[in-house]
Amino acid sequence: MSETIELLSVQNAKKSFRLGGILSNKEIIAVNEVSFSLFADKPDILSIIGESGSGKSTLSRLILRLLLPDSGSIKLEGTDVHAMKGRKQELDYMRRVQPIFQNPFETFNPLNRVDEFLMATATNYFPGEKPAQAKERVEKALQAVGLSLAEVGERYPHELSGGQLQRASVARAIIPNPKILVADEPVSMVDASLRMSIVNLFQELKNTMGTSIIYITHDLATAYYISDRIAIIHKGYFVEQGDTEAILSKPKHPYTKLLVESTLDPRPGATSLADGEVSTGDEEYLAVGCKFAARCPRAMDICRKVQPAETIVGNWKVRCHLYGENNAS
Ligand SMILES: Nc1ncnc2c1ncn2[C@@H]1O[C@H](COP(=O)(O)OP(=O)(O)OP(=O)(O)O)[C@@H](O)[C@H]1O
Ligand code: SF4
Ligand SMILES: [Mg+2]
Repeated sequence: MSETIELLSVQNAKKSFRLGGILSNKEIIAVNEVSFSLFADKPDILSIIGESGSGKSTLSRLILRLLLPDSGSIKLEGTDVHAMKGRKQELDYMRRVQPIFQNPFETFNPLNRVDEFLMATATNYFPGEKPAQAKERVEKALQAVGLSLAEVGERYPHELSGGQLQRASVARAIIPNPKILVADEPVSMVDASLRMSIVNLFQELKNTMGTSIIYITHDLATAYYISDRIAIIHKGYFVEQGDTEAILSKPKHPYTKLLVESTLDPRPGATSLADGEVSTGDEEYLAVGCKFAARCPRAMDICRKVQPAETIVGNWKVRCHLYGENNAS
């Protein structure tokens, strides 16, 4: 089968925010000229990796249709998100694109038992079905994440461990049989010893259910482990995107190189650019030309004047003046 059936197509998506309130004339473009696609006949795991404040959650909210892009297009199975109106179309979108949030405690209502909450989710997406059918859907979803109604159904969210609750929130997300899961930092609040089991779950869901997963993280290690493709995001731009193994073994963009080197740096206390706590603030967003120029060891004059375009170099895309028209490498 060909790989051209686009499930999700994001083309030149832009989303800006005004800094410091409505009277301010300063604006940052939190997501800028972002383009990528997911293909219906080739489910995969795309990791979007970037430091704090790089635009990851804004992009995730655009994909989830919680925000609409200022310009560019986001199409799900050919229909632009701007063209979807009304409760029915919204529900239809949500059925196909489901979120997994960072904090599983925020997914659940603390006052509802887990089974009540999951049953309500099933009924919401499949109104008119009998309770027995909803229960079957819930059980199936829980079993797919290694849980069961007997184990967790009668408990309240606070009676589950963080790892169990994140699994249950993945179960909630797969109840409507979505085509895409958007997981924004899904393991950063889960105990380190349980992270890999959740991350492995994504791989299982891809393989068994054919679900595509957009895994958003600042953690290069888990992204390397599970993703087929990666996109490195810096101040709203995808600076490098393509095959995970190829990029991480031989990164081209200076920012990706720094990310990889800092992740591999064995010195105790070495600062990792990939650390979620690291933020360079909004100054880089406001820079003219390449947003990374102030930190880039290879910056040239042109970098401080002209924003580099995304260029195909070998088998993947890079946004850097070292490649493309101003090739200096
Ligand atoms: N609703 C908003 N109003 C104004 N600015 C916003 C809004 N949402 C995000 N931003 C700004 O957009 C930029 C990107 O934020 P975003 O939350 O997308 O980053 P992130 O990569 O998810 O960061 P983190 O790793 O800390 O979650 C930041 O400068 C942030 O302050
Ligand atoms: S465009 Fe210039 S400043 Fe930006 S990453 Fe490439 S070399 Fe560095
Ligand atoms: Mg975020």
